[in-house]
Amino acid sequence: MTRTPARPFRSREWFAAPGRLDMAALYLERFMNYGITPRELTSGRPIIGIAQSGSDLTPCNRIHLETVKRVKAGIEAAGGIPMEFPTHPIFENCRRPTAAIDRNLAYLGLVEILNGYPIDAVVLTTGCDKTTPSAIMAASTVDIPAIVLSGGPMLDGWHDGDLVGSGTVIWRSRRKLAAGEITEEEFLEAATASAPSAGHCNTMGTASTMNAIAEGLGMSLPGCAAIPAPYRERGQIAYETGKRIVEMAYDDLRPSKILTRQSFLNAIALITAIGGSSNAHPHLHAMARHADIELKPSDWMEFGYDLPLLVDVQPAGRFLGERFHRAGGVPAVLSELIAAGKVDGNVATVTGRTLGENVANRFATDREVIRAYDQPLKEQAGFLVLSGNLFDVAIMKTSVIGPDFRARYLSRPGHEGCFEGRAIVFDGSDDYHHRIDDPALDIDENCILVIRGAGVIGWPGSAEVTNMQPPAALLQRGIQSLPTIGDGRQSGTSDSPSILNASPESAVGGGLAWLCTGDTIRIDLNHGRCDMLVDDAEIARRKGEGIPPVPASQTPWEEIYREKVGQLGEGGVLDLALKYRRTSETTPRH
Ligand code: FES
Ligand code: MG
Repeated sequence: MTRTPARPFRSREWFAAPGRLDMAALYLERFMNYGITPRELTSGRPIIGIAQSGSDLTPCNRIHLETVKRVKAGIEAAGGIPMEFPTHPIFENCRRPTAAIDRNLAYLGLVEILNGYPIDAVVLTTGCDKTTPSAIMAASTVDIPAIVLSGGPMLDGWHDGDLVGSGTVIWRSRRKLAAGEITEEEFLEAATASAPSAGHCNTMGTASTMNAIAEGLGMSLPGCAAIPAPYRERGQIAYETGKRIVEMAYDDLRPSKILTRQSFLNAIALITAIGGSSNAHPHLHAMARHADIELKPSDWMEFGYDLPLLVDVQPAGRFLGERFHRAGGVPAVLSELIAAGKVDGNVATVTGRTLGENVANRFATDREVIRAYDQPLKEQAGFLVLSGNLFDVAIMKTSVIGPDFRARYLSRPGHEGCFEGRAIVFDGSDDYHHRIDDPALDIDENCILVIRGAGVIGWPGSAEVTNMQPPAALLQRGIQSLPTIGDGRQSGTSDSPSILNASPESAVGGGLAWLCTGDTIRIDLNHGRCDMLVDDAEIARRKGEGIPPVPASQTPWEEIYREKVGQLGEGGVLDLALKYRRTSETTPRH
């Protein structure tokens, strides 16, 4: 059965361009050296790219070396021709100076591949944190039919009869180690127990959050995000994804027909309900901007802040990925939000049906893990957007504010939600590690730890360092966390209620650059304010002393990145890239 595509396949320009047999021959011949026949390539069937993000350097996504076999089977069964190619590796935990600098590099690489090769549609394999936003950003720029296939989280980690979640266990165990409650050996045992199988982080860290968002945006098949990597359903949804992308190629169902402002507002609501990563903020802005959709800081307050936390998964809750999947995963959360009128189910998705149709009646089967909308784990659990004289925009993930922290800092009678403290300022994480236990700093529970030089330009790339732990002496006294502020990010697996992603960062003259140790900072969560109580004349005097120095670039990309990147509050994208939209509508020249 031959179908006529809604838009002529762009691969025809390579393999069947009229009057250019010489060029077609050149394009065709080398693909044959692994067995593809010229008849296949000239048959008019769509060429389906598979953007392979898994490798030994991206172990979180390595399951895709297996899933692509099922993707290819699905593509072939539906009449497409699969072509797998690698993307730039992004491994969150291992890449120095930070994996964040590679989101835009992987984006650029994928744009060039999708634009410059005879690819009609693409399966985006995702997993580890930035692999998802970089892929969606690129698919938006090129605008060919695209579908996300998550690799899925690892199985749940267990240690000593307790659930241990990747990342989260590190932050919790390092506090116990510093307080002398566990040995180094026990620390390592717990940490490694959190990673029992193939897959990405099993907590609601950035990886699970971004894959949930991809599903919430309508960019993957329903249920795809949460299936654990080793489960049989992972291979099965890989097959279905392969079949579906061929249909999408014929229907010309591109990201521009799926991604709307409403779908991004839906994603903001979803992030609150799942207790999603603070890194979702810059990545959502980045994806929206590449899709030519305006998101404002106030959207997070209007469509996310007042919503409840429904999902009891670490770091905001107790459980891990397997329980979340069995409870119903993302479709069950979306069902709650649609029924409550907080997500608009009328948006388009890769299935060709609406989001609401995709998840109809897929309510949770385990109410301990996914709560009903009116019986949440926490009310008002979204990101609080703050501003003040220290920055224009920063966020705080309120779902991880624990009872201890609330009682100590936010419950002074008559001053609920407000806190004043003495600033202890660190220039980057080396400075923090060198000095945090220095008795001369005299750090007590009335201090606010501040880290700067950790933003997109200062680091470069923006580092996950804002969740600084208190000095050992305080931990030993049972003080688990101090208020922290920074122009860096923090891991999505962290349970620290930090004020982070401060933009503009100190390296470009943001307010943090002019703060000194000993200054008083006033945090007012009721009004979303964060200010240094330093008079303007003194701030002006400090400005005369210049911006705190940042380390020199060590690679060409670091230099290019620093020159072209925008601030974290706007997604940290390469602004020059935003003028390139729907590049697939123009065929690249021979
Ligand atoms: Fe890759 Fe968490 S480190 S998913
Ligand atoms: Mg992370």
